[in-house]
Amino acid sequence: MLPKSKQSTILLALLSIIPPISAVDETHDPATNAKLLAAATELDRQKILSSDTQWIFDFHAQQTYSYSPGSVINANAATFPAMQSTGMTLAMLNLGPCAMLPPHLHPRATNVVVAVEGMTTTYMVEENGARAVTEVLSPGKMTIFPRGSLHTMQNMGCGNATLVSALDSSDTGTLNVINQLANLPNDIVQAGFGNTAAAQFWKNVDKSQIPGVGSGSNLGSADCIAACKSGQKVGAYEGR
Ligand SMILES: *[C@@H]1O[C@H](CO)[C@@H](O)[C@H](O)[C@H]1NC(C)=O
Repeated sequence: MLPKSKQSTILLALLSIIPPISAVDETHDPATNAKLLAAATELDRQKILSSDTQWIFDFHAQQTYSYSPGSVINANAATFPAMQSTGMTLAMLNLGPCAMLPPHLHPRATNVVVAVEGMTTTYMVEENGARAVTEVLSPGKMTIFPRGSLHTMQNMGCGNATLVSALDSSDTGTLNVINQLANLPNDIVQAGFGNTAAAQFWKNVDKSQIPGVGSGSNLGSADCIAACKSGQKVGAYEGR
């Protein structure tokens, strides 16, 4: 564990780095995906995946691997063709100091997440009428985001948080709610807010200033960032 003053210096350096931009997973090798989809049996698929190098995925070697502010790295049909027939995605969630995954949902997968480093607060709402479920994931603790549920998470610490995320589809899809609200006509979203101050607020939001989908993570709570900059402890969890 670094001293708090050192962490603050590192955080300030991290804040000045522009996050990598890669909005969605590009399919790395569509020809192999096509062959795998056409194969009749698992033995046929193994002949297509004839090299051992086609059966290993290195999360650390991916271009988007970053803790500044953070990243979601997916091993799925798009990034790792051997996942094509597994019906699964495994993702590594890297959250730098105060980083978050903004509110999002997966249209085609239930998602379970276990923490391996740091303290991360998660929030989940399943549907209209459901309560918001809040959890603090310390290493070894897991929670569930059922398919289609709205969820978000925030690293409340001034150090890194790392989580492993498993999903029951090799093509889960991700929809970032705030970004996609901005994708709808302004007057329609304003009407959704009702004739309230929020409607006026939304009208005046410069949509280009909403963080892009990018690497899947952006800087989170302003309180967390301010506290880490001033070398304070953040939340009740930091340093435990
Ligand atoms: C977070 O992890 C990255 C990658 O391992 C490392 O470079 C960085 O120093 C870590 N940051 C903190 C605050 O521990």
